[in-house]
Amino acid sequence: MQVIASVASMQRLSARWRRQGVRIGFVPTMGFLHEGHLSLMRRARQRAGRHSKLVVSIFVNPTQFGPGEDFERYPRDMKRDLALCREAGVDAAFVPGAEEMYPGRARGGFSTYVVEESVSHGMEGAARRGHFRGVTTVVAKLFNIVQPDLAVFGAKDWQQAAVIRRMVQNLNFPVKVLVGRTCREPDGLAMSSRNTYLKGDLRRQALALSRCLKSAAEWVQSSAKPLSAGKLKTRVARMLAREPNVRLDYVEFFDSETLIPLSKVVRGSHMALAARVGQTRLIDNARL
Ligand code: PAJ
Repeated sequence: MQVIASVASMQRLSARWRRQGVRIGFVPTMGFLHEGHLSLMRRARQRAGRHSKLVVSIFVNPTQFGPGEDFERYPRDMKRDLALCREAGVDAAFVPGAEEMYPGRARGGFSTYVVEESVSHGMEGAARRGHFRGVTTVVAKLFNIVQPDLAVFGAKDWQQAAVIRRMVQNLNFPVKVLVGRTCREPDGLAMSSRNTYLKGDLRRQALALSRCLKSAAEWVQSSAKPLSAGKLKTRVARMLAREPNVRLDYVEFFDSETLIPLSKVVRGSHMALAARVGQTRLIDNARL
């Protein structure tokens, strides 16, 4: 496995592979890898074919974190991540530093951003101002650097995947975007690098998120009629309020594809929620 920290070297390698007619599959990550990331790597490899190359980027992107968020303390373990990538058969790990990706940013040397203006407005976009601007900007940069034929994102961040899809369509990136299913712990907790923050009782209390998704799916599936989104939100809020350290940020019901909020919820509608468990902000979603 090649470990590449410079933009120019990554671009050269990708250009060479492309000249040789090799397809490139890509999984962008912020590292502290878990089974969710590894499942996306397997998916990329499988879809790109046997003679493809698999690139994984590991970069904690500063522009997608707001002031007061966890950028500085976001978990990092490069040595372990590279070992996992090697085991997963990754051909190249792209691991740039912040100055390599955003030269001169602190001195105003970086001033071009990519902004999606429809599906990025609600939910995470409303709760974390500027977050998706950072995500679309870094993913656009990574696509220009890695030049992938296909890229795989996780359903865990459903809105993020929708925003990237829009960006790729609207700006004509020659990249096929695939979405891999959410990997969960055996008890239902969606895997996340941030789960490492959940110490003691918080780990158990964090199950409230996936429990709400499961209950909502049951309510919707056992009802002959569409259910009111407003009433469902109240029920979810009540369920979460039972856990002492869990604070609901938002719960939303929406169309899976357009992300337009629904007032009536039916089987196949999508639900997403965000909550703070202690100091840790977690998100989860599911098709009901
Ligand atoms: P990160 O949180 O590291 O996630 C990298 C990719 O893994 C994303 O596509 C995410 O949706 C996916 N993922 C995370 N947890 C998952 C799980 N439990 N099951 C399946 N997939 C999962 O998302 C980001 O990084 C960044 O925003 C990034 C796209 C890299 C841009 O900086």
